[in-house]
Amino acid sequence: MNKPENADSFLGIDPSELLVSDVNRLLLHCVSPRPIAFTSTVSPDGIPNLAPFSYFTLGGANPPSVVISPLTGKAGEPKDTLRNIEVTGEFVINVVTYGMRERMNLSSLKYPFGVSEWKDAGFTPVTSDKVAPPRILESPLGMECRLYKIVQHGMGPLSANYVIGEVIYFHVSRSIMPNGVIDPSKIDYLARLGGDWYARMDHNSIFEMPLRKQEE
Ligand SMILES: Cc1cc2nc3c(=O)[nH]c(=O)nc-3n(C[C@H](O)[C@H](O)[C@H](O)COP(=O)(O)O)c2cc1C
Repeated sequence: MNKPENADSFLGIDPSELLVSDVNRLLLHCVSPRPIAFTSTVSPDGIPNLAPFSYFTLGGANPPSVVISPLTGKAGEPKDTLRNIEVTGEFVINVVTYGMRERMNLSSLKYPFGVSEWKDAGFTPVTSDKVAPPRILESPLGMECRLYKIVQHGMGPLSANYVIGEVIYFHVSRSIMPNGVIDPSKIDYLARLGGDWYARMDHNSIFEMPLRKQEE
């Protein structure tokens, strides 16, 4: 195969030759922008916990299925969110908007296990319909989830813990569905990029492109 002229302008990187922290940094640029799952859980003692996770995607709709990955910490410790879900099997994912950004960031600080981020962050908890963890009133979209499976990949610092959840109930703010359907330009999504970068996805930066239909 021909080697295009500018192929040498790429840096080839073998992840096995990097520090794990540098691999993580690189991945965050490669898989970007990412939505943020502001995840509400409750500890076995009933203490509510809130933390943002951008290692977040959906997997299918039959049944509705989502995944987050609370990484194993730098000292090999599990995050409170993971510990809570392992025991209770329940969580609520709240979509993060631009207006929520500062308080969301604050709630990513490390709190001792059993201490709640809700109070400092100043979000309003609303009782969920099907699960114990509350949802966030300020978030326009919420998903109540029941744990399907936790899949560990690797071991030790920054290894993955894929928490797969089945969405058993949705909450959609009427403010984002002016004509009865969801209008993404009304959501003002916040997305996470690599480094300390974020993206705001409001009506100025999003556009519509209908799916191409195969011609007969
Ligand atoms: C925007 C944002 C996204 C984040 N995404 C993740 C993530 O996907 N996985 C992860 O392990 N930590 C992520 N973090 C860091 C966690 O939120 C942080 O470790 C938090 O303290 C975990 O809380 P917990 O111990 O209460 O679960 C993220 C932080 C921010 C600000």
